[in-house]
Amino acid sequence: MKRYPMFMCLQNRPCLVVGGGKVALRKAESLLQSGAQLKIIAPQLDHELADLLNQYTHQATWQAREFQDQDIAGHYLIIAATNQRAVNARVAELADQQQIPVNVVDNQAACSFILPSVVDRSPVMIAVSTGGASPVLARQLRMKLETMIPSSCGQLAAITEEYRDQVKQRFADPEQRKQFWEQTLRGPFAELVYAGNSQAARQLLDEMLTQPSRVSTVGEVYLVGAGPGDPDLLTFRALRLMQQADVMVYDRLVAQSILDMASQTAERIYVGKEKANHAVPQEGINALLVRLAKQGKRVLRLKGGDPFIFGRGGEEIETLAENGIPFQVVPGITAASGCASYAGIPLTHRDYAQSCTFATGHLKNGTIDLDWEKLAQPRQTVVFYMGLTGIEVISRELIKHGTPSELPAALIEQGTTRNQRVHIGTLASLPELVKQRSVRAPTLTIVGEVVKLHEKLQWYQPERHVAASEFSRNLEPQE
Ligand SMILES: C[S@@+](CC[C@H](N)C(=O)[O-])C[C@H]1O[C@@H](n2cnc3c(N)ncnc32)[C@H](O)[C@@H]1O
Repeated sequence: MKRYPMFMCLQNRPCLVVGGGKVALRKAESLLQSGAQLKIIAPQLDHELADLLNQYTHQATWQAREFQDQDIAGHYLIIAATNQRAVNARVAELADQQQIPVNVVDNQAACSFILPSVVDRSPVMIAVSTGGASPVLARQLRMKLETMIPSSCGQLAAITEEYRDQVKQRFADPEQRKQFWEQTLRGPFAELVYAGNSQAARQLLDEMLTQPSRVSTVGEVYLVGAGPGDPDLLTFRALRLMQQADVMVYDRLVAQSILDMASQTAERIYVGKEKANHAVPQEGINALLVRLAKQGKRVLRLKGGDPFIFGRGGEEIETLAENGIPFQVVPGITAASGCASYAGIPLTHRDYAQSCTFATGHLKNGTIDLDWEKLAQPRQTVVFYMGLTGIEVISRELIKHGTPSELPAALIEQGTTRNQRVHIGTLASLPELVKQRSVRAPTLTIVGEVVKLHEKLQWYQPERHVAASEFSRNLEPQE
């Protein structure tokens, strides 16, 4: 080990920063946050550093002059952050002589300690160091950790701390205590904190300590939006829950590359609907979720796009709520957002569209029940989900209600995936376009002046993937 890792307590300890520029600013910030009594010696002060010192008047002082040898004495820790190598070297030499830990910016060899890259979820701190070998690598590793550790991890630690004594009293045996915490920090308690429900988390912990026999053994359901197809569009929370679930219930609109990212040990249940073959009817899915959760499982209900936009997510959690099953909902990027972005079609634009409507183009008895007059109004964008089989009705009804037949329109097929295809036409030509290009589901239809912008703003030109479809099942045109 080249350096000894440790976390130092600086509360009320006198610390010195020599230098008053941007680098000194960063060092001063973290020292002040750690509670140090900070002295800065520098002839001039960066204006941001001056602002910072104003916020910490009780903790910080500035001496507006050059560094002198006698400044070293009496400090607990020193940072040399001037832009003059000779001054920095002198600070280091004197600090070493007096055995005071010193850090010199941009001079590894002169440092008795170095500063790691830090993931700060106070009170949880994760420090990454490459021992000075590659600060950039340390920063990249830190970024990776940032994405993996929930932002409320610090809160989890803080609540845990509140209960430490109680848990100690309840479990005198250290082994039992350790087991209790291991289970608790992996179970519903932690998930409640992560979901922002600290009050319920505290209640659960109270119950676990005082009436363990009453603690429910029911599992929980995560209703998670998987986005439109590109796995990079998953949220951090979605990914975390996907990786900790015991069982995954998914349907046809989840791309294969996303399914591959879920826990490999999770049981997988496909409940999707294909043409004329409703694998599991909606009521069956609702009941399945309840049954699995009652078996104590952590159930991932994975849905394409956003669960609350044409996703029937509301119905599924209504049943959960009625049955007292804990659940949380994780939003996903809906197809309209994803497809529009990846096709270079802004859904609103100051010159063309002041509003945007999401509508379902799902056919019922050969018709679509929509307020066509409203959808035919100018200066808006209309996005049709599930509009492929009803494309003739959509085109005909909008024209009948006054939309110009030449209004630009786009069909975005397998949007955001490597197989994305964008077909541009007009409202009148849409049905023909679907036939000519053999457009298949899932496809999103965008109607409005904004479609013109595609020509100028298209940026996503993926190399087409060998597989015909990115989605979990071969989708029929009927949606
Ligand atoms: C039942 S809706 C589900 C919508 C989903 N909940 C969402 O927020 O995107 C299914 C429709 O979404 C659209 N869709 C979903 N993903 C798509 C994609 N990657 N490319 C194009 N359209 C997509 C299609 O119109 C498809 O018929």
